Amino acid sequence: MRTHIFAKLQRLDLRFYDQNPVGRLMTRITSDVETLNELFSSGVVAAFGDLFTLGFILSAMLYMDWRLALITFSVLPFVVLTAFLFRARLRTTYRDIRVQLARINAYLHERITGIVVIKLFSREEHDARRHAEINQDYLEAHLRSITYYALFFPVIELFTAIALALIIWRGGATLLEGAVTVGVLAAFIQYARRFFRPIQDLSEKYNLPQSAMASSERVLKLIDREIEIVDEPEPVSLDRPVRGEIEFRGVWFAYGKGAEEGADWDWILKDVSFRAAPGERLAIVGHTGAGKTTIIHLLMRFYQPQRGQILLDGQPIDRLRLDELRGHIGLVLQDVFLFSQDIAHNIRLGSQDIGEDRVRDAAERIGAAPFIERLEKGYDQELGERGAILSVGERQLVSFARALVFDPQVLVLDEATSSVDSELEGKIEEATNELMAGRTSMVIAHRLSTVLGADHIVVLHHGELCQQGTHAELLEHGGLYARLHELQFARTPAA
Ligand SMILES: Nc1ncnc2c1ncn2[C@@H]1O[C@H](COP(=O)(O)OP(=O)(O)OP(=O)(O)O)[C@@H](O)[C@H]1O
Ligand SMILES: [Mg+2]
Repeated sequence: MRTHIFAKLQRLDLRFYDQNPVGRLMTRITSDVETLNELFSSGVVAAFGDLFTLGFILSAMLYMDWRLALITFSVLPFVVLTAFLFRARLRTTYRDIRVQLARINAYLHERITGIVVIKLFSREEHDARRHAEINQDYLEAHLRSITYYALFFPVIELFTAIALALIIWRGGATLLEGAVTVGVLAAFIQYARRFFRPIQDLSEKYNLPQSAMASSERVLKLIDREIEIVDEPEPVSLDRPVRGEIEFRGVWFAYGKGAEEGADWDWILKDVSFRAAPGERLAIVGHTGAGKTTIIHLLMRFYQPQRGQILLDGQPIDRLRLDELRGHIGLVLQDVFLFSQDIAHNIRLGSQDIGEDRVRDAAERIGAAPFIERLEKGYDQELGERGAILSVGERQLVSFARALVFDPQVLVLDEATSSVDSELEGKIEEATNELMAGRTSMVIAHRLSTVLGADHIVVLHHGELCQQGTHAELLEHGGLYARLHELQFARTPAA
């Protein structure tokens, strides 16, 4: 089940991840699955034993003296009713426990990954208090379930006592009349005691299915979650060789879902159209939040635009297979994500077809080889979580090598906004040129050198494409590009 959930998680859309914190998903995969495991490993087996015992005692009592047996069983409806009454409440508390546990995990995950910020702003005490609060909620949810059991067991105990009293009362009378023997009566008293124990056990085990129900509800919700972006039943293939032509045609997009078509969407992109010819260098510029990264998300089909079309080599991208589309496009993101494994793994991402020599070749062409070779274990150096042991610039170079080694036809680069010194700036510029050579490229430019080298620049303003042309044309025109140029690009060092 765990592997099943993980496989599903891998395929789910980014929209799903926008809505679900990591800690919550971790809870699903770990403790929710654990609860289900417990149900099957101990709960079900023991419950079978209990049911067997119950069935045996029931038959034995009926066989020995059916009238006395029926008297004993007369308390059973009340037992069932009690169990029923407690059931609904227990289910709610167990659901609560799962929710609180997921909250704790989500909180923990975030505070541990964000430890530097917490220390920086001295939020340790505040966050510890907040954690204590969330933990208290969790504790209370547990206490509620314990309280219900503390009430439930004595009630069952009471019914056991009543049943015994009934046996002695009726049995005693019939004994005097000579209808039953002392032996039968003694057997009944013993059986009655043993009869209620499995019932008690069962209701204790009841706990397991209840909590397993609460877990499985959540797990199933995850497993049944529809994947919005999937391959078409009959996908088309691109003609070879792939030319790498990109076109956006009247694309409208909003992250928020729920509003009906035609209603007020929170548009992030409005009627965006542009084209990058094969081999062309296209630069996208715009102020922060203009929707530049969003354009990349759409091109990679991480999200689906509400209107309009995106084409690769003249084919709508939603008609291509996802892995084909993404295989043709190399993407370097604004914030680089590296895995904790070694550098070679981070470059080839475990791909079997990419040999050691190709990894080294890519690193050399990008200019990452010198610093990699300086590391103690070179390409086998483990990087620590998120590539902790590398500097920001080095991480960028590794991610460039990663894009290069897959040799895509189209290169998409979201330049990092963080400023780097001019030496690294020069290296990154060289690396960028190496990456873009001979490919169609789409670069979200934050550096002057990139816009200067671009064949074509589109200017985005609040999700609308307001200007396009070459650097010289746009500067001459004045307007937004000229302003952006002055504010953003002219100040960054051009190598
Ligand atoms: N996953 C998301 N869910 C909801 N809104 C989002 C999401 N990602 C981005 N947005 C919103 O979309 C808008 C455009 O974001 P985008 O990341 O495309 O900006 P950008 O142009 O790349 O900015 P920057 O230059 O700072 O990287 C922003 O207002 C942002 O708040
Ligand atoms: Mg961005």
